[in-house]
Amino acid sequence: MASLLLKRSGGRLLSVIGGGRRGTDALPGVDSPARRSIIDMSYSAHFMDFKGSSIPSTMKKLVVNKLSSDFREAVSLRSAPVPTPGDAELLVRNRFVGINASDVNYSAGRYDPTVKPPFDAGFEGIGEVVGLGLSASSTYTVGDTVAYFGSGAFAEYTLVPAKECVPVPAVRPEFLTLLVSGATAFIALKRLGDLAKGETVLVTAAAGGTGQFAVQLAKRAGCHVIGTCSSNEKAGFLKSIGCDRAINYTTEDLAKTLRTEYPRGLDVVYESVGGSVLEVAVNSLANKGRLIVIGFISGYRSASGIPRFRGETLPVKLLQKSASVRGFFLPHFLGDYRDALSSMMHMFSKGQLVCEVDGGDLAPEGRFTGLESVFRAVDYMYAGKNLGKVVVDVAPPPISTSKL
Ligand SMILES: NC(=O)c1ccc[n+]([C@@H]2O[C@H](COP(=O)([O-])OP(=O)(O)OC[C@H]3O[C@@H](n4cnc5c(N)ncnc54)[C@H](OP(=O)(O)O)[C@@H]3O)[C@@H](O)[C@H]2O)c1
Repeated sequence: MASLLLKRSGGRLLSVIGGGRRGTDALPGVDSPARRSIIDMSYSAHFMDFKGSSIPSTMKKLVVNKLSSDFREAVSLRSAPVPTPGDAELLVRNRFVGINASDVNYSAGRYDPTVKPPFDAGFEGIGEVVGLGLSASSTYTVGDTVAYFGSGAFAEYTLVPAKECVPVPAVRPEFLTLLVSGATAFIALKRLGDLAKGETVLVTAAAGGTGQFAVQLAKRAGCHVIGTCSSNEKAGFLKSIGCDRAINYTTEDLAKTLRTEYPRGLDVVYESVGGSVLEVAVNSLANKGRLIVIGFISGYRSASGIPRFRGETLPVKLLQKSASVRGFFLPHFLGDYRDALSSMMHMFSKGQLVCEVDGGDLAPEGRFTGLESVFRAVDYMYAGKNLGKVVVDVAPPPISTSKL
């Protein structure tokens, strides 16, 4: 099964991230944003900032109508009423939404085979609270800036349970990179990597959303880090974030390079590609090496979702090296989530962590702006063009034409 599998409950994905703490107090090392007071419509169960936020009655959202790993075939843009928050919910006006490799697994129905279309798409967003239920108002207020991961992010407005939101100091796409991509690298390496200073770590798809964090965190742990990527520009980026050896596999043979330059083998592999890359990684493990299966993107757009892997000799190879292959799936580690996010926010605020965002500025049709561009953004990622986390700007602020 694909990565980032979350269980559905009443049409929502379950995630445990908010922790019920108030505003930005929850995150050390970040400044509190200015707050706007809510408009108290005490005759209503909800607080909606109709005046301040100009909430329309309808909105656009992306809906999965047909199960397919071809995102364009599965998903369409629809108009829908802007939902009203329930008692413990926030209505978030999304500013940026994150693209994940698993968006195509989700549209193919691989997350929960019992759920039938139509259902909402998108895993993560960051934006402003524009309405909230009564009990949610004990923790949040209109104007708070929040990030979340859960279903239905590919929409202009999303309802999110308050306890699943993370307060953020500003609506910046960099914070969005930490929610899934950053947290995955942080927790997987911490819990399953057993990294020791001086060890050799290979990160595949290293210049992407989650790979960039695995590279930096392994480097911080004092390891020698190798990263794979598909262009010289990405290799340059990897060097800039501390990667000791960037391998552009379009110009260098991965297996041969590892054999020649790392004859002792790899102590840890953070592996996201699967198929033949996974085979090379297994064959390159050192004695007592640990390979963490993060994903297998090379198969996601196929009918089965699973790339071909010749695994008959895997037990022999693992035994001969006392090596191990370990699977990692973020929702199984939610107990570590808040600590991971808070640590990375702190590092980012201190300038110790690069959160590279790819908003599509160099994409053929330009920047990913508006929900329509989610389709282009998914294609762009699967063409291997992204450098950093792919992010779509849902609602850029209007450009003032005033000359005053
Ligand atoms: N286990 C979990 O809980 C979890 C959570 C988040 C993400 N993930 C996994 O992490 C991996 C990366 O996800 P992401 O969202 O951060 O994406 P990403 O790394 O930002 O983008 C995917 C990258 O993979 C490479 N790629 C794209 N299509 C490919 C193909 N068909 N075959 C081989 N390589 C391809 C490209 O890099 P190059 O062209 O440079 O190779 C591309 O930039 C995925 O496997 C995803 O499922 C797992």
